[in-house]
Amino acid sequence: MKKILFIDACMRGEESRTRKICEKLIESRMEKEDYQLQTVKLEKEKIIALDCEALNYRTRLIEANSFSDEIFDYARQFASADLIVVGAPYWDLSFPAVLKNYFEAVSVCGMAFSYGPDGVPYGLCQAEKLFYVTTAGGFIGSLNFGYDYIAGLCGLYGIKEVEQIKAEGLDIEGFDIQTILNQAFNQVVTA
Ligand SMILES: Cc1cc2nc3c(=O)[nH]c(=O)nc-3n(C[C@H](O)[C@H](O)[C@H](O)COP(=O)(O)O)c2cc1C
Repeated sequence: MKKILFIDACMRGEESRTRKICEKLIESRMEKEDYQLQTVKLEKEKIIALDCEALNYRTRLIEANSFSDEIFDYARQFASADLIVVGAPYWDLSFPAVLKNYFEAVSVCGMAFSYGPDGVPYGLCQAEKLFYVTTAGGFIGSLNFGYDYIAGLCGLYGIKEVEQIKAEGLDIEGFDIQTILNQAFNQVVTA
């Protein structure tokens, strides 16, 4: 069965509006097609950034072409997903730091991507599409660093289609938050 991987970087517990949009998107996809859902809740996973010791350990394993260690579990899961949904609120012009730690764990040469003899990288991930779902208190405008970064990684990983779903202005007093969210809910049903 095909797999949807939901990478949940929503840190604000049950109240998270970003997660609600993700859940609607996933529900809609699962109604249309048989999928197995795998969720990585980053608030619970507590993935630490690569430090000297972890990096040296990982590099030794990669050089030995030995990918069975659990240090590669996130990369293995990501590379074998058929559809990926990243849910990340717009924080400090990008996204919560836990998501960067997650992608450090995923970006393994030999698993998520590799290099040809000409030095040009090619992707090893099988997902046909990645959705990047975000909500912002204000407006993202041209400072879309979170989405741009993830879209860049998708190029490296070989994921050809990347789509952003966003809801903005959610912390602006006087804005009709429910109407803005309903627009995003409608958008994900047809996405
Ligand atoms: C730590 C933090 C940083 C934030 N940085 C920004 C920002 O740079 N720009 C902005 O428009 N909103 C910012 N916000 C507001 C969030 O983007 C907004 O409340 C969002 O809808 C939160 O998503 P959630 O409901 O899924 O938690 C920030 C909120 C937090 C808690």
